[in-house]
Amino acid sequence: MAQKTVLVTGGAGYIGSHVIIELIQDGFDIVVLDNLVNASMESIRRVEKIAGKKIPTYSVDLLDKNAVDDVFKKHKISSVIHLAGLKAVGESCELPLLYYKTNVGGTTNLLEVMEANGVFNIVFSSSATVYGLPQFLPLTEDHPVGGCTNPYGKTKFMIEQILSDLCTSNKKWNVAVLRYFNPVGAHKSGTIGEDPSGVPNNLMPFMGQVAVGRRASLTVYGSDYDTPDGTGVRDYIHVVDLALGHVAAVHKLNEQCGLKVLFLQNGQNKSPTVYNLGTGQGVSVLDMVKAFEKASGKKIPYELAERRLGDIASCYGDPSLAAKELNWTATRGLDEMCEDLWRWQSQNPQGYKGAEGSSQ
Ligand code: NAD
Ligand code: UD1
Repeated sequence: MAQKTVLVTGGAGYIGSHVIIELIQDGFDIVVLDNLVNASMESIRRVEKIAGKKIPTYSVDLLDKNAVDDVFKKHKISSVIHLAGLKAVGESCELPLLYYKTNVGGTTNLLEVMEANGVFNIVFSSSATVYGLPQFLPLTEDHPVGGCTNPYGKTKFMIEQILSDLCTSNKKWNVAVLRYFNPVGAHKSGTIGEDPSGVPNNLMPFMGQVAVGRRASLTVYGSDYDTPDGTGVRDYIHVVDLALGHVAAVHKLNEQCGLKVLFLQNGQNKSPTVYNLGTGQGVSVLDMVKAFEKASGKKIPYELAERRLGDIASCYGDPSLAAKELNWTATRGLDEMCEDLWRWQSQNPQGYKGAEGSSQ
């Protein structure tokens, strides 16, 4: 069977590097486009080592449309997994224009180039943040969306709408929107993982840095929520499970593409398919502290503090649609998430920066 080539935007980043490995293991050829604003070429070098093959990688900004087009001219791309973008909630409140320009403008550039090159399959990285304050739990894909309180979340919501309008306008488009819950953990090898620049905003990278001695203690934001132990509850998903969800989504698009050729000749349109990628399990901050202490053998000192602005008490999803339609389910539990995070963190206490030849 001829191999299909998938372009992964943001492929040098945390989730992208894991997605590439699973796609290669499934037989796909990969091309990476990343401007390296929040990543290092070292992650690609390590992915190449794991995969045992070279990955064509272009240091290109999505805002440079001609350079994006050049990548499409050089490779026969069949599908795109679009992960590139900026993702820091706090920064998005300080620099909203940068977020709208990069995330929304970068995506419209990409879509225009795709259309011009006859590529209509795209998997988009959205987030459970589009649900805003949950009206019910677990969150299903038909929960109302758009109640986001920060520019980052609003860019995800806007891009979902753009993709929906695109499907309405042209029946050739095949779109899968993946709403991630909280990705954590790392590849089993311990050689790739999350490497935030500066002080980590998210719980697990912060905890990892406490365990490895880079930070003195964890601040637990809020202990008076209406949750079993008063701390915030989230749906943590192993990044490798998340990556496998992308492989399943690409297969689904390829399948749909074939079906469209057969059945959608007469002007019928198809909306994007939207899937929650989570475990369906709500886990508290203190549950995570316990699980990580067990996995690492390290004590995690913590202080209980005020709630963080913009946080919600509980957020977890119903992943049954992805199970039914993508034949995908998360299988890695909390212990494995923490063990794999600890392997990465303990083997790379400074992230990729400690590596010889790293670009950062
Ligand atoms: P990441 O920052 O590690 O990866 C994003 C990548 O995009 C980086 O490698 C960065 O260099 C690249 N990039 C940014 N702007 C670019 C541009 N203009 N042109 C080309 N490349 C650019 O983040 P991640 O955690 O791997 O997230 C990947 C995607 O998943 C993002 O779109 C993010 O919003 C989304 N997401 C992440 C989470 C999470 O918790 N990590 C949750 C929900 C959704
Ligand atoms: C954050 C983002 C959200 C994004 C999601 C993706 C914010 C406000 N929200 O969500 O937009 O879609 O990541 O994964 O940044 N916590 C602590 N101490 C810390 C860090 C976090 O107690 O140092 C708590 C939080 O209050 C929360 C839980 O840990 O209860 C998880 O926090 P985090 O990892 O930042 O993820 P989210 O808040 O779910």
